Amino acid sequence: MAPTSRIAIFPGSFDPLTNGHVDVIARCVRLFDRVVVAILHNPEKRALFSLDDRLAILREETAAHSNVEVDTFEGLLVDYARSRQATAIVRGLRSVTDFDYEMHMALMNRHLNAAIETVFLMPAEQFTYVSSRLVKEIAALGGSLKGLVPASVETRLARRRSAAMSRSV
Ligand code: PNS
Repeated sequence: MAPTSRIAIFPGSFDPLTNGHVDVIARCVRLFDRVVVAILHNPEKRALFSLDDRLAILREETAAHSNVEVDTFEGLLVDYARSRQATAIVRGLRSVTDFDYEMHMALMNRHLNAAIETVFLMPAEQFTYVSSRLVKEIAALGGSLKGLVPASVETRLARRRSAAMSRSV
């Protein structure tokens, strides 16, 4: 890797990956030489998808970008970013509601390591109301996720639904 390479970390829970995340990743790859999509491994949080599933989904959905790597991390994000020689943390910003939380996190991360800059990227307008939390709720209630999540997420959820249905008959 050339010493001038700009490496960005795009961190998150990605539980599940949404089309909003995919949109932000596509914007990120145009701005940085290398993008590491980093999934937080938080064993205390009950997730819809296992860490392995989330890794597989993200790898499938970013396969077309040769400068994207998918990884997992534990502990402080700034420590992970430093270990990956990243100069930026990228976060998607959908609304003013996001801004309050994101600003506190960005400033705290700057307090912890001033060498790493947080960069906010806005997803396309049609994704401004799409969140993993709402997607999980819709999935639990059997609603359609068309247009909200990538195919690999829809397929896995459909597979789970049919497995649950065949168990209940
Ligand atoms: O997709 P999410 O859940 O909004 O992502 C949140 C994430 C993973 C970026 C945040 O929880 C995080 O960075 N966790 C790692 C622990 C850490 O560094 N905490 C201090 C942040 S100020």
